Amino acid sequence: MDVILFGAPGAGKGTQAAILAEKTGLVHITTGELFREAIRQETELGKQAKPYYDGGQLVPDRLTIAMLLERLSQSDCARGAILDGFPRTLEQATALDEALAQEGKAIDKVIYIQVPENELLGRLSGRWNCRQCSSVYHERFQPPRQAGRCDQCSGELYQRDDDKPETVRRRLEVYAQQTAPLIDYYRAKGKLVEIDGGKSVEEVAKGLLAAVEGS
Ligand code: AP5
Repeated sequence: MDVILFGAPGAGKGTQAAILAEKTGLVHITTGELFREAIRQETELGKQAKPYYDGGQLVPDRLTIAMLLERLSQSDCARGAILDGFPRTLEQATALDEALAQEGKAIDKVIYIQVPENELLGRLSGRWNCRQCSSVYHERFQPPRQAGRCDQCSGELYQRDDDKPETVRRRLEVYAQQTAPLIDYYRAKGKLVEIDGGKSVEEVAKGLLAAVEGS
């Protein structure tokens, strides 16, 4: 099964993808994290992606599609994957459809996590991530047991550079202009399932699992 978790920056895609991956055994692939790792490692891809990432812009399709398809071709994705943060443009969506079709597969479901825009800024400004295992926390909504330390691996927590208010505003604009049109693309294909992402993490996870299982 291949599932896309879709939604605005801060909607909870990463939080929910991690829970869903644990429940289903599917691999969680997040293009944002792949870029962060490439930037940290200062790879050629990281150097090319950095100015776009830092500015809250989308990394060009050519780079993003090649990176994602390479990751999807790895053996741990044979049973399927949860895609978080991809696709974000029509070109990415059609490239994904074509690549899956070549293997006789197709996206099973696109779960659209809907959160009111006025809540997104507060979620992103209070977010903390683990440097080691990428677990996600929020200083008010999902605090770690010990401030600054990850519950899972005791790694150091940090705030993402692109969560600065001006970069968040740019990311929300980019989402509205370039990514939100994909809602109609997947709705027309009959793949879109909309869920209310404004509830607690546990309630959203329940709704998401039900949506994936088709109940
Ligand atoms: P990426 O890392 O994908 O960022 P994003 O899509 O903006 O999404 P976020 O990670 O910010 O939010 P999320 O929905 O995962 O929310 P989270 O679960 O963390 O992309 C970053 C950059 O990489 C892009 O700007 C671009 O440059 C590049 N990029 C990536 N993919 C690309 C692509 N396909 N094409 C081109 N460029 C690409 O939750 C947010 C906070 O809310 C957390 O603190 C969490 O604890 C809290 N929270 C979660 N759920 C709840 C809840 N139910 N109630 C209360 N709080 C909650």
